[in-house]
Amino acid sequence: MSDHGFGSASAAVVRISSVDDAVWPEASETFVATPEVKELADRTLMYLQAGYPVHFSGSAGTGKTTLALHVASNLGRPVTLIHGDDEFGSSDLLGSDQGYRKSKLVDNFIHSVLKTEEEMKTLWMDNRLTTACRNGDTLIYDEFTRSRPEANNALLSVLGEHILNLPKLRRTGSGYVEVHPEFRAIFTSNPEEYAGVHKTQDALMDRLITISMGHHDRATEIAITVARSGVLEADAEAIVDIVRELRGIGVNNHRPTIRACIAIGRILARMQARARWDDAAFRMVCRDVLNTDTAKVTRGGESLMPQKIDEVIQKVCAPQRKHLARRVGGA
Ligand SMILES: Nc1ncnc2c1ncn2[C@@H]1O[C@H](COP(=O)(O)OP(=O)(O)OP(=O)(O)O)[C@@H](O)[C@H]1O
Ligand SMILES: [Mg+2]
Repeated sequence: MSDHGFGSASAAVVRISSVDDAVWPEASETFVATPEVKELADRTLMYLQAGYPVHFSGSAGTGKTTLALHVASNLGRPVTLIHGDDEFGSSDLLGSDQGYRKSKLVDNFIHSVLKTEEEMKTLWMDNRLTTACRNGDTLIYDEFTRSRPEANNALLSVLGEHILNLPKLRRTGSGYVEVHPEFRAIFTSNPEEYAGVHKTQDALMDRLITISMGHHDRATEIAITVARSGVLEADAEAIVDIVRELRGIGVNNHRPTIRACIAIGRILARMQARARWDDAAFRMVCRDVLNTDTAKVTRGGESLMPQKIDEVIQKVCAPQRKHLARRVGGA
């Protein structure tokens, strides 16, 4: 199951319904729209309505895909989803020849010569970018920098001149498709230093309005944790504070992400445990979920993180023990 809930009505942040082969995202009640999120969504919608493609750039778990789907649901058009892939060639976006149709003509009048004429016609199968441009869909190209830059070249004329160039169809006279006026595009990407991410060509970046996304503010993270896990608000506050504190300690201060908050919240809700220092089950879940992100902080080859996690839980969940809180802060 994918994280944004395709196929899972209950957990979906954006519900997806398929009508006539098209995907229609619908706003869902589990989408959290705090003032911060709303401002971002409104700004994006405004740029799109003015005809500009928008690009959400940010590290993992900052809510890029979720926001893209949410904004697309507000545009009220079918959505075409593409996920960037290193294996992509241009035909994966545009389409390609899929076999051929053969027709045979037998000349019955000249009996002496059996004349056969075979006509081979290639069958062109549209691929998703072509379909989206023709229909006026909202294109969400998720993690587009995972595709090699040359695979994305077709987008340059789509976004610049509103023309899709299909050179392989030029012979049949359909080498160009005029992009439907309702066509809009939203892109997401992770930073270039992420594994498997390509550098983007400047020409494409030049056509996009790039919005940098960091982690949501504390209030939004708490609201998302409650909405996505069903945990009590007081527990969500503790979980989010622990995760935010650990972001400052690890080698990568983008992690742990909101996904860790949601995971801890869901497990807690299922176990009917509470986010308290004296709840052994809670401490165990925190260590297991948060350990991978923080394991790189070592002393003498030993990971310091289980101990760090315990200290942070204690600091966040037992504020009355001020002397401990001070020690953690100074560590
Ligand atoms: N506004 C929101 N309302 C509800 N849930 C949200 C919201 N924003 C993010 N989330 C949740 O946070 C998690 C991370 O969000 P998302 O998958 O959109 O991040 P991302 O930036 O696309 O991450 P990645 O770069 O790893 O793909 C998801 O579980 C998503 O459901
Ligand atoms: Mg994503």
